[in-house]
Amino acid sequence: MKERKEREEADEKGTGRMFDSIAWRYDFLNHLLSFGIDRSWRRRAVREISKRCINPRIIDVASGTGDLAIEASRMSPSGITGIDISEKMLEIARKKIADKKLDSVIQFVKCESENICFEDESFDAAMVAFGVRNFSDPLKGLSEMRRVIREGGIVVVLEFSRPHGTIFKHFYNIYFRYLLPFIGSLFSGHKEAYRYLNESVMNFPENGEFIGIMTSAGFSGISQTRMTGGIASIYTGVRK
Ligand SMILES: C[S@@+](CC[C@H](N)C(=O)[O-])C[C@H]1O[C@@H](n2cnc3c(N)ncnc32)[C@H](O)[C@@H]1O
Repeated sequence: MKERKEREEADEKGTGRMFDSIAWRYDFLNHLLSFGIDRSWRRRAVREISKRCINPRIIDVASGTGDLAIEASRMSPSGITGIDISEKMLEIARKKIADKKLDSVIQFVKCESENICFEDESFDAAMVAFGVRNFSDPLKGLSEMRRVIREGGIVVVLEFSRPHGTIFKHFYNIYFRYLLPFIGSLFSGHKEAYRYLNESVMNFPENGEFIGIMTSAGFSGISQTRMTGGIASIYTGVRK
């Protein structure tokens, strides 16, 4: 048990350091490598909350440079709290919200998903974009997200999935395995981070398997929307 906790802490530190080192290039590469489609994925994820909640209190887990939180600020929330383990990612997020004069709506706190630094039922909705895959323990992180939202509150997870169609899948594999790590390392100088991106996406549970993890974390009514040929998915669920 102690060994597992130590391993999780080491994983978290490593992940935090990795995101610290690519933070300065993160937004640029995100938009470049996804051809800008990541913006519309975040917009759709946020819509899942605005469809169901009025002026919600939202927690954005693994908020990074804050793009999902900024997108959610359009729905007139009561407040948004972004948490992340990378101080450098949060530094950029804070600068962005200051530039956009959103600091009265959004706040950022350094804190890990597996041990969220807020009391039970502090929020109406929890969301996470491209973060769960990086958690040292996805089930624990999702259970923590459940803990901090009220009964009947909603969770939205935006994460990479893998395409089905044979031809598209072939091009996707070439792009993800070879081109993406090459371009990522060229612009960020951090080869490992973009190799990790490819590996983590290829190995992460998707579809029914991921829905199973959300169910174990205590969510019900889970649905999945596959986007852009299946390369990204939005999973939504309700706190039982
Ligand atoms: C790929 S980025 C996603 C950032 C942002 N949500 C977005 O949509 O661009 C993943 C983020 O997860 C954070 N992260 C990874 N493991 C974490 C953990 N255990 N707790 C909190 N944040 C974590 C990283 O520091 C990084 O900022």
